[in-house]
Amino acid sequence: MTNLSIIGTGNMGQAIAAIADKGGHSVQLLGSGDTATQVTGDVVVLAVPYGAVDDVIAQRGEQLADRIVVDITNPLNFETFDSLVVTSDSSATAEIAAALPQSRVLKAFNTTFAATLGAGVVGPLPTTVLIAGDDTDAKSTLSDIVTAGGLKAIDAGALNRARELEALGFLQLTLAATEKVSWSGGFGVAA
Ligand SMILES: NC(=O)c1ccc[n+]([C@@H]2O[C@H](COP(=O)([O-])OP(=O)(O)OC[C@H]3O[C@@H](n4cnc5c(N)ncnc54)[C@H](OP(=O)(O)O)[C@@H]3O)[C@@H](O)[C@H]2O)c1
Repeated sequence: MTNLSIIGTGNMGQAIAAIADKGGHSVQLLGSGDTATQVTGDVVVLAVPYGAVDDVIAQRGEQLADRIVVDITNPLNFETFDSLVVTSDSSATAEIAAALPQSRVLKAFNTTFAATLGAGVVGPLPTTVLIAGDDTDAKSTLSDIVTAGGLKAIDAGALNRARELEALGFLQLTLAATEKVSWSGGFGVAA
């Protein structure tokens, strides 16, 4: 059993908590008002908007040392829906990894809408969580949590691939926002 802490109790925080719970893992859910509560999980999911990540790191950076930190953000410019707000040679995950040098930082869950985490399917395909990061053991730990929760997981490569995952998440969001795909659909993976 792995202990998870999930910071953010919105759509994604609750969906990921349900996956972990289904697999028999323990979950600490931390809302924006729980700033006095220490993080206890070996795996910490940042289920907050990209714009809130700096605050979370400022509040909890030291607590995140020696833990697996999972960045699920899609760092879009939500005013224009026309660009990411990180530079084109970087990613939100790379920024977070630079700010948390003592943590093992992964990108995951940003290409799966919350509804597909709950349903376990994207159309006819199983929901697949793409995971990127430089630490193989950390990826394996998260992959086990995802699969025990009834979904599929694929190692999408090194931390550098977070940039491509964020581009994929960005495109999927623009398609859903313009009603070309539904919020319970999106990209599936046929392995
Ligand atoms: N929704 C999706 O389908 C989807 C898919 C892929 C990736 N994502 C990404 O997942 C992340 C969360 O999305 P969501 O849909 O779950 O958003 P959401 O439903 O709006 O929930 C966001 C949560 O973050 C909390 N929060 C905000 N600032 C915080 C802070 N400083 N400290 C602690 N908690 C804070 C909010 O708490 P309060 O309500 O108390 O402010 C809320 O519980 C975003 O980065 C998004 O880009 C979402």
